[in-house]
Amino acid sequence: MSKRTLAQLEPTHLDGQRVVVRVDLNVPMSDGVVTDDTRIRASIPTIRYLHDKGARVVLLSHLGRPTGGPDPQYSLKPVARAMEKHLGFPVMWIADPTSPEAAAQVRHMPRGGVALAENTRFYPGEETNDPELAKSFAALGDMYVNDAFGSAHRSHSSTEAIAHLLKPAVVGFLMETELQFLGAAVDNPKRPFVAILGGAKISGKIDLVEALLPKVDHILIGGAMACTFFKAMGLETGNSLVELDRVEMAKDLIAKAGDRLVLPTGAVIAQKLEPGAGTREVARDQVPSGWSVFDIDSASVKVFADIIASAKTVIWNGPMGVFETPPFDQGTLGVAHALAAATKAGAVTIVGGGDSAAAVTAAKLDDQVTHVSTGGGASLEFLEGKPLPGVAALDNA
Ligand code: 3PG
Repeated sequence: MSKRTLAQLEPTHLDGQRVVVRVDLNVPMSDGVVTDDTRIRASIPTIRYLHDKGARVVLLSHLGRPTGGPDPQYSLKPVARAMEKHLGFPVMWIADPTSPEAAAQVRHMPRGGVALAENTRFYPGEETNDPELAKSFAALGDMYVNDAFGSAHRSHSSTEAIAHLLKPAVVGFLMETELQFLGAAVDNPKRPFVAILGGAKISGKIDLVEALLPKVDHILIGGAMACTFFKAMGLETGNSLVELDRVEMAKDLIAKAGDRLVLPTGAVIAQKLEPGAGTREVARDQVPSGWSVFDIDSASVKVFADIIASAKTVIWNGPMGVFETPPFDQGTLGVAHALAAATKAGAVTIVGGGDSAAAVTAAKLDDQVTHVSTGGGASLEFLEGKPLPGVAALDNA
């Protein structure tokens, strides 16, 4: 790690310090209730460590994508309550982190106290990386920790500009773990190294395919993006989602990758995308017109699982089908189980955030893979080899 980390700071120097910690508490909510607390749990080790060392901890995060100022449906207040359950002590609420009252509130916090501030995206300037807004955030602390891996690809006031104002500015425990796992997988993988990519659109994953191709032994493609490759092979794709403007690119990739690129041999098809829809499993050259591909078939799961079983390093990003609409979740679940089996056999298996992470968690297999990333877009950009502004701005080691 070329960046200075929280673990490298002398613990006794944290005592009494006001530490601003950027966390990613952008959790799914329904009617004001947190429906998946993975990111809250992931942020706890850094917070508890600072609390134990006597620091005064001020947490900054965004939630959702509010536009035009404060919006109660994006308030972080319910998240403070959810966090208290994990910490086992009260979390102070900072209603407006840019107000003079907030700075006074933090000065009066007891040693070991933890406070969560309202959604950073309620303030104009957050998303434009405004240094003035960063100054108000920085007024709440003596030093800065960025533990928000999920937001590290954003150049925002609370992730980037603030790191130039508060020193030291260091990597938190979660961020460190994420960078180590994802970094080791792409820079120094044990071989065979297999990447599994899925999701709807090839256009969102093209940089990832290009970045991984020179490094992997196999790249397995599932999800609707496989249909664009089918089209490139001259196959009938029925009503499936195909990006016509990417067909030529898919052709080039097939030529460039040779047998490193592994496409599904068949698909689960239906005429409509609905729970319990009438489905058929067909070979990939047997998709009738009027039908759509919604998942990889069981034969493809077997092909993919065999390759995964032979791997020593596996990275997975993107579901194999429309996993949120059963029965089109079977391909994704099959791959999740194959990853769990490979992990048991000694492989390093990494699930790169977003939908695939949600699928592994829903299948209760998240503790049977080596690492589930808390970053969706961030893990994608990191694996693509792009610099993460939230990390780049931190102190060098
Ligand atoms: C995420 O959920 O991927 C992060 O919290 C970043 O959110 P954003 O895409 O709204 O910036």
